[in-house]
Amino acid sequence: MSDAINIGMFGMGNVGKGVVQLLAKNKSVIEKRVGKPVEIKKAVVSDLKKDRGVDVSGILMSTDPDHILNDPDIDIVLELVGGLDVAETIILRALENGKSVVTANKALLAERGRTIFRAAHDAGGCFGFETSVGAAIPIVRTLRLGFAGDDIVKISGIMNGTSNYILSKMSQDKSGFSETLEKAQEAGLAEADPTLDIQGIDAAHKLIVLMNIAFNGVFDFSQLHTEGITNITAADIDYTGQLGYTIKHIGKVRKTEQGIEARVHPALVPRDHIMSSVNGAFNSISVFGEFMGPANLHGLGAGPGPSAVGVAGDVIEAARYILTGQQRPVSPFSIPLEEWRPIDMVPMGRIRSEFYLRFNVLDHLGVLSSISKVLAENRISVRSVIQKGVPSETEAPVDIVIITHEAMEADVQAALGQINQEPFMAGRTQLIRIEPD
Ligand code: HSE
Repeated sequence: MSDAINIGMFGMGNVGKGVVQLLAKNKSVIEKRVGKPVEIKKAVVSDLKKDRGVDVSGILMSTDPDHILNDPDIDIVLELVGGLDVAETIILRALENGKSVVTANKALLAERGRTIFRAAHDAGGCFGFETSVGAAIPIVRTLRLGFAGDDIVKISGIMNGTSNYILSKMSQDKSGFSETLEKAQEAGLAEADPTLDIQGIDAAHKLIVLMNIAFNGVFDFSQLHTEGITNITAADIDYTGQLGYTIKHIGKVRKTEQGIEARVHPALVPRDHIMSSVNGAFNSISVFGEFMGPANLHGLGAGPGPSAVGVAGDVIEAARYILTGQQRPVSPFSIPLEEWRPIDMVPMGRIRSEFYLRFNVLDHLGVLSSISKVLAENRISVRSVIQKGVPSETEAPVDIVIITHEAMEADVQAALGQINQEPFMAGRTQLIRIEPD
C-alpha cells in the first residue's frame, strides 16, 4: 500500500479548485483524522493550458481518463465534471476498477440512479455523494445513518440557493424577476446559464436523491412535478407579503395514505414559518420522522468552500474504510440491493393544496361572479378575495387575488382552463400553492 491515500480528480472547475485548496490548507489536520496523508496525485481536465488559479504543482495533469482509471495507486476517484454521459462512464469504469468514488453529480444520480447505485453496490469501493445535495450540509449522511432508525414521513425545504437568492432579492428590492436575475449573474451569484436553477431542475434532482434514500426505492425523475421561479412577479411578492406570506422555491415529499406525494415549485409559506427566514443563497431542509419529529439542517448549499467540505467528508470516510480494510461498509442507500424497487409517485392532479390565484382581468361588471361560479363548479371553495389595482376609465386590467381552501390540483387546473378562455381575461393567471406546514 502506498504511503498516502491517493486521489484522482476528474474536472477542475469551481468545486475541484475548492477541493485542491481545502486539501492543501487542511493537509495536516486531515492526515491526523485519517491516519495517513490524503493527496491529489492526478487530475484529468479538458484543457491543460488553462490557468486554474490554484497551486496544482504537485498534481500530475492529463486529458486522458486512463491516466487515472488505469493507475493502481489511485484509491479514490473524484467525479467533478458534472453532466451525464462522460460522468457516468468515469464513475462506472472507476467502480469496475475497484476504486472508491466521490461525486457531486445530482443530475446523474437522479436521472440514472438505478445504473449508478447498482454499480456502486456491486463494486468493492465506497461511493460518496454527500455534495450532491446541499453541499456541506450533511443531509445525505444524516438520512443514511443518523435517521436510519426512523420512518421518514416528510422532507421539505429550500434546495436551490440561486432561486432563494433571487426570490429574497426580489422581495427586498421590490424588483422583477429578469432584472434580479441579471444582477445576480453580474454579482457571480447565478450561473451564466441559470436554466437548471431557475427552472427548478436542480432542486428536483436533489429531491429525488433524498427520496431514494428516505423511502428505500428508486423514483423516476420524469414523474416529479417540477416548476421553477421564472413566472414569479413583483406583484405576486407584494400581494402575498400583504397577506402574511413569503414566496419560496421548495422541494417537498411526504408519505400519505395515497402513496408518496412529491413536487418542486414556488410556494407561499407563512411569515412565521422556518423557511420564511431563510434568505440569500442558503438552503434549509427539514426532515420529519415518526419517532423523532422535526429536524432541520441549514447552511450554504453551493460554492467552492461548502462543496469542498462535502467532498472532503466523503473522501475521509472512504479513506478510513480503505485503511481499515472495510470496503463497501454499507450500500449507498443503506438498504440491500434486493430491496430496491421502483416507487411511483402520486400523480400531481390528486394532490390537495390551498392555492393563491391571481387573475389579471378587465374590470367589468360580473367578472368576479363568473370566476367564482367556475371555481364552485369545480369544487373549489374560496377563502378570501381581494381586488388589486386602480379602477380606471382607461380599461387598464386589474388583479383579482383569490385564496382557496384546500382543493384538488386537477380541479384547480380544470377551472383555470375554463376561466382562461373568458373574454375578460387580460393576462396569464398566476397559480402558487400554499404550504401551511
Ligand atoms: N446551483 C445550485 C444552487 C448549487 O444554486 O443551489 C448546485 O446544485
